[in-house]
Amino acid sequence: MGTTPTTPTRAFNVDSVRSEFPLLQREVHGKPLVYLDSAATTPKPQAVLDAVAGYDMHCTANVHRAVHELSTEATEAYEGARTALASFINAPRREELVWTRGTTEAINLFAWSWGRTNLQDGDHVLLSEMEHHANIVPWQLLREQVGIEIDVAPITDEGVLSVDAVLEFITDRTKLVSLAWISNVLGTINPVREICEAARERGITTLVDAAQAMPHANVDVQAVGCDALAFSGHKMYGPTGIGGLWARHDLLEAMPPWQGGGDMIKTVSFEESTWNDVPMKFEAGTPNIAGAIGLGAAAGWIAELGPDVIASHEHELLEQCVKRLDAIERVQLIGTAPRKAAVVSFVIDGMHPHDVGTFLDQHAVAVRTGHHCAWPLMARYDVNSTVRASMGAYNTVEEIDAFADALERIIEVFG
Ligand code: ALA
Repeated sequence: MGTTPTTPTRAFNVDSVRSEFPLLQREVHGKPLVYLDSAATTPKPQAVLDAVAGYDMHCTANVHRAVHELSTEATEAYEGARTALASFINAPRREELVWTRGTTEAINLFAWSWGRTNLQDGDHVLLSEMEHHANIVPWQLLREQVGIEIDVAPITDEGVLSVDAVLEFITDRTKLVSLAWISNVLGTINPVREICEAARERGITTLVDAAQAMPHANVDVQAVGCDALAFSGHKMYGPTGIGGLWARHDLLEAMPPWQGGGDMIKTVSFEESTWNDVPMKFEAGTPNIAGAIGLGAAAGWIAELGPDVIASHEHELLEQCVKRLDAIERVQLIGTAPRKAAVVSFVIDGMHPHDVGTFLDQHAVAVRTGHHCAWPLMARYDVNSTVRASMGAYNTVEEIDAFADALERIIEVFG
């Protein structure tokens, strides 16, 4: 555990990558599993499973609390994972990485703590039409508490969010721009660097939802120039129930704690308590120790292969997927932006997405169907739900073909 490599240390070979995922070796309904639901959650490689099991089997103990050997080893592994994640996103300081349960909790933390301290009645928060509920509802809760206004920058029919569309909504009342880096429905890769630069020039704080970016892009908070960034472990080959909020140190320093309890304090008396240093000020109670250690291993695993190398493999899968789906007459793709990650949403004329998903499952193809926690985006495209195939480092072109073949057969038989 420790820092993550900045250049790939392993050659990419998809068969070898696949062999590291025990889940991908299983069958479903007697057929080999074709897992195309990575945007919802990714399977874990053996390195992550081993890291979690290693803590559970060999050094289960609480962190930051005891002097015995097990606690020392657990604390080193847990804090080593923080260093690994901070390095993975090129954070200037490891203390800027706050563990949370995931992206949702990270955005709620930021809204509750930074938002209630820095925003007041009449201030505006700018979102986009393609946000996940996790980057909509916390701001609505804040609106009820403080009276902020929420603005929504529109996207084009292709699913593109332009810098100009964002700029048009910026006024002198805009205090925060909070945007997804990559849409979990459309796969659109947003120009977050340019948007953060424009916001910074106007003195506006920026928060980036990087839930889908962590497994698909090269996430470098200094290059992006954002003020805060939220992510989840289970979308980047790590465990569920762990993720993080990165924010600039001065922001975190000025933010009040949002949950009280053990570990987040320096002193406690019945009269008053004082707060621990950043990041522990935001980490009340026993954390998800095994999860953090597993996530550190996941960051190391991605870094060894290289985020750019993984993205380039996934782009090949995306191209094949779009080519095959484009050739099926009744399929309508939702989200055709030129800059896209390997996430493909679509509807089929005359067939309900849930039925399509159920039929695909019979072919052992796992996709997600539904609103994808993005109701406003569904409304934008005038659909209630879509089928979504989302890919990861472990998928093959043959799997994309198996998925498209199954889809053709389903339409032929049931459509
Ligand atoms: N946000 C997750 C998804 O897109 C659950 O499926």
